[in-house]
Amino acid sequence: MGPGDLTHALAALPARTDPRLIVGLDTFDDAGVFLLSDDLALVQTVDFFAPIVDDPYAFGQIAAANALSDVYAMGGEPLTALNIVGFPIGKLPIEALTEILRGADAKIREAGAVVVGGHSVIDDEVKFGLAVTGRVDPRAVLTNARAAAGDRLVLTKPVGTGILATAAKRGDLAPADVATLIETMVRLNRDASRAALAAGARCATDVTGFGLLGHASHIARASGVTIVVRARDVPVLPGARAALTRGVRTGGAERNREYLEPLVDWGSTDAADRELLLDPQTSGGLLVALPASRVAEYLTAVPGAAEIGEVVAARDRGLTVL
Ligand code: CO
Ligand code: CO
Repeated sequence: MGPGDLTHALAALPARTDPRLIVGLDTFDDAGVFLLSDDLALVQTVDFFAPIVDDPYAFGQIAAANALSDVYAMGGEPLTALNIVGFPIGKLPIEALTEILRGADAKIREAGAVVVGGHSVIDDEVKFGLAVTGRVDPRAVLTNARAAAGDRLVLTKPVGTGILATAAKRGDLAPADVATLIETMVRLNRDASRAALAAGARCATDVTGFGLLGHASHIARASGVTIVVRARDVPVLPGARAALTRGVRTGGAERNREYLEPLVDWGSTDAADRELLLDPQTSGGLLVALPASRVAEYLTAVPGAAEIGEVVAARDRGLTVL
């Protein structure tokens, strides 16, 4: 199933009209936001997937950082989490599951949240993730729908996790590059989110399965703007360009290309840069739209963040790559 099929399935549902649902399905946002009072709203999200690294503890950390990220992408603070487990009992040692849960719990605690339960089923393959609930000030929600022409775009983690995880699975990645890949994916987007609020941001998303350009397209569509991305300024994980040269590709990037092709003006962007901008990310960075006057302050507050483009008035296509 491609992302388009899922969108069609969702479109068959009756429209949500509850006035308390202040961020719902229509803006492709990272999480739902439900108003409790004038100054308090719930943020809710769920994500789970098959292991993308061999080390079960690291996989648990990555899955938790990835699930928490959707709360941070809305400007929220996580409160509680529920584990979601599919596990092949009898085919894999149960210790592997213990390690996954330990890794996830460490990240949830680092985020200041608490695991309150979960649910497991027997499955042919391991799958793990979490449903996370957080709180947010409804007046300061970061949504896809609030980018404005003149804003600058900042990305807080390098891209390339899809390519590198695929290379690592084949045993085709240097140990140092595997270590950097895991270190990047387990890092929380908490500081990046708090700094975005402090710098007056109104729009952010996190970069995950649709790749940098896919998530940028969601902002473009929800905000009615065009996003300009300067490919040369996008930070890339070590080893990712070399893996592309060795022929490593992902099915996810191919699906993203099909979905995005009519939306992108590629200009003279070369093939390798296109692959990196379409690469599906796991636990990727925040993509934040900031007022131009606040970019320097943000880059100082968030080590590793880079200014990668800008928001302009809507053109024929929602994305321009330079
Ligand atoms: Co997200
Ligand atoms: Co999400």
